[in-house]
Amino acid sequence: MLGMTKESGSASDEELGFEPGSVRHVAIIMDGNGRWARARGLPRNEGHRNGVRNVQEIVKAARQADLRHLTLFAFSVENWHRPKAEVSALMHLLDSYLTAQADELKRQEIRLRVIGRLEELPRRVSRRIQRLMEETAHFDRWNLNLALNYGSRTEVVDAMRAYAQAVQAGLEDPEALDWATAVRFLYTRDLPDPDLIIRTSGEHRVSNFLLLQGAYAEYHFTDKFWPEFEPADFFAALAEFARRERRFGQTSEQLKSPRSPSSLRA
Ligand code: FPP
Repeated sequence: MLGMTKESGSASDEELGFEPGSVRHVAIIMDGNGRWARARGLPRNEGHRNGVRNVQEIVKAARQADLRHLTLFAFSVENWHRPKAEVSALMHLLDSYLTAQADELKRQEIRLRVIGRLEELPRRVSRRIQRLMEETAHFDRWNLNLALNYGSRTEVVDAMRAYAQAVQAGLEDPEALDWATAVRFLYTRDLPDPDLIIRTSGEHRVSNFLLLQGAYAEYHFTDKFWPEFEPADFFAALAEFARRERRFGQTSEQLKSPRSPSSLRA
C-alpha cells in the first residue's frame, strides 16, 4: 500500500525503489559543506548556504517517502568551537531557513521538534523555533527533528541531572530504573529510535550523534558532500536499507518467532 495520496505529492514504490511508509525514522549527519565549497573555490559559508538549500530538498523527499521522522544534525555542541564568524553565519542561516520555511512546513503538515540545548541558542533563533514548534505541534504524521546544540554525551548528562532531580523529588525510584524509564529523560523521549543513520562526505564516524538511540540502527555512508546529496541519493539509501535484514542481536530464526525485537530494546 502506498502511504500517500497523489494530492499530497506521492511517489510510487517503483519510482522510489522501496515502499513509501516502510521506513519510520531516518537521521542524517549532514557533513561536507566546507569541502563542497572549497572544491569550487567558494567561501565555506557558501557551502553552508547550499547545505540549507539541500535541507529543503531532502525534507521534501522525506515527505514523498512518507517517512514519519527525519532528524537532521544541524549544529553540534562541538560546533561552538568553530570561528565566531562561521558560528554566526550558521545561526543566521538557520534563522532565515526557519523564517522562509515556516509556511511551507505548515502547508506540508510537518511537525518541527528540536533535540539539544535549545535555550543556549541565540534568543532570536530559539524564540522562532519555539513558536514554530508550537504552531506545528498538532501535526502527528510527519516530523522534522533538528538536532541543534546537540551531543549525545550532553544529552546523557542532561538526562542524568533530570533523573536525579526526579529522584530527589520522590518521583522516581532508582531501584525501579530500567531502560524504558531512562529513555523518558532523553531529548528524544517522543521519538522512535532511528532505523537508518546516513552520513555524507566520506567520513565513517558517528560524531556523538544519537549514540544510544542508534544502538540498533543501520548506517549508510556516502562520499557525496551534503550540498550534492540529492533526493535520488536519499531514495537509493532507503532502497538499499529496505534490502537489509535487521536482527537486533537475534538470529534470523528467532526473528521469525513472535518475540518482538522491541521487547529486547526496552
Ligand atoms: C558540516 O559541514 C555541516 C555543519 C557543521 C552544519 C550543517 C548545517 C547545515 C546544513 C545548515 C543549517 C541547517 C538547517 C537545518 C537550516 P562542515 O562545515 O563540517 O564541512 P567540512 O567537514 O567539509 O568542513
